[in-house]
Amino acid sequence: MPDTPQLVRSTILHTPRNPFTSPHALEHFPDGALLLSAGLIQATGDYATLRAAHPDAEVHDLRGGVLLPGFIDTHVHFPQGRIIGGLGAGLLDWLNLFALPEEVRMAQPDYARAVATEFVHALAAHGTTTALVFGSHFHAATQSLFDAASARGLRIVSGLVLSDRLLPEPLLTTADRAYRESRALIERFHGRDSLGYAVTPRFALSASEPILEVCQTLLREFPSVWFQTHLNENPQEIADVLQAFPWAPDYLSAYTCYGLATPRSVFAHNVHPAEAELATLSASGSSVSHCPCSNAFLGSGLFPMRRHLAAGVRFALGTDVGAGTGFGMLKEALQCYLMQRLLPDGVPLTPAHLLYLATRAGAEALGLEAQTGDFTPGKSADFVHLRPPEGSVLASALVRAEGPERLLAALITLGGAESVREVRVRGQVVFP
Ligand code: GUN
Ligand code: ZN
Repeated sequence: MPDTPQLVRSTILHTPRNPFTSPHALEHFPDGALLLSAGLIQATGDYATLRAAHPDAEVHDLRGGVLLPGFIDTHVHFPQGRIIGGLGAGLLDWLNLFALPEEVRMAQPDYARAVATEFVHALAAHGTTTALVFGSHFHAATQSLFDAASARGLRIVSGLVLSDRLLPEPLLTTADRAYRESRALIERFHGRDSLGYAVTPRFALSASEPILEVCQTLLREFPSVWFQTHLNENPQEIADVLQAFPWAPDYLSAYTCYGLATPRSVFAHNVHPAEAELATLSASGSSVSHCPCSNAFLGSGLFPMRRHLAAGVRFALGTDVGAGTGFGMLKEALQCYLMQRLLPDGVPLTPAHLLYLATRAGAEALGLEAQTGDFTPGKSADFVHLRPPEGSVLASALVRAEGPERLLAALITLGGAESVREVRVRGQVVFP
């Protein structure tokens, strides 16, 4: 069936360039439009110009709000949606008190299915169109997540979480089972719809060397899959990893020894890196997921952004739900700004930096920048339309905002799920 081109009319903001390296990275069309057809962006520009050039296009009028590229969450745990808000603990205690007991419950397929449905709904309801997701330790539960993402139409990269030590017994696997189950999930889901697979050892502390070898084998056999894990989140965690891998000069070496730092690898946190680790991350083309809400919530520390920039290490934002404080990527961007303000050598961030970190930087971290992350023609029509509730503080702030930076700053500071009105992936509505 030929599809009629559609002109989506709105104020438009996006970052088709990296503001850390390019001036004028923020592009703004006060009365703009996206021309969509076949799920792709055919043109981006001023409404009047595009209308004149495409008089037959159907107009979808979203004036009165702002259209942004769909958010990209580069680190979020699907089984942890219901345990957000576990106050009062650092990483290792928080895992034992809040996260791991809930992750054990994922052994029940009905429970896992319900949580998976809630999870993909929460992503879409917050304007997130692409996410790199920690799955479950259980094969069936991880399958439920892929099924739920596919039913909603979200762009999700995820994988079975692998651990064979330290955690509660029901969460442990063996090298052989880890290989078989991961392989079955890759063959079933990787590349289907908008789904991708990520080999996912939980962290070096809960992975023996045979499990990391399995990860290496999977990456060799399936070179197009991704890799994700945790790195350098908490000082006690780092000390424990160095004890568990006595031959390793640093935390990252436990992974690099098995060839696990690649351009398709995303390491969550990296709050306490050594210089040599930053150099290795940069040389290998790996990315870091920066999760400022979680870093504050668990007291993990202040992300050394300046050192990542100096070393040329790519990074993008992640919510890290459930240690994160919710699914909102605007909130994550605000927290990113706030924590750099608190750091003595913090990076002064503009609204353009923050939008980039919540959108295009995530696409770059995942190697998906040809498909999503901004509104360059040829990319997938992945967007979030934000219009704050009438009478809200944000609604007044947007009316008054002088220029695109002020508008974006107000959205980042005050915007949440209550302002998300329409979300699309590949041109298809995924919310509401
Ligand atoms: N390290 C290992 N597992 C986890 C987790 O679930 N959350 C966070 N923030 N760090 C981890
Ligand atoms: Zn995490």
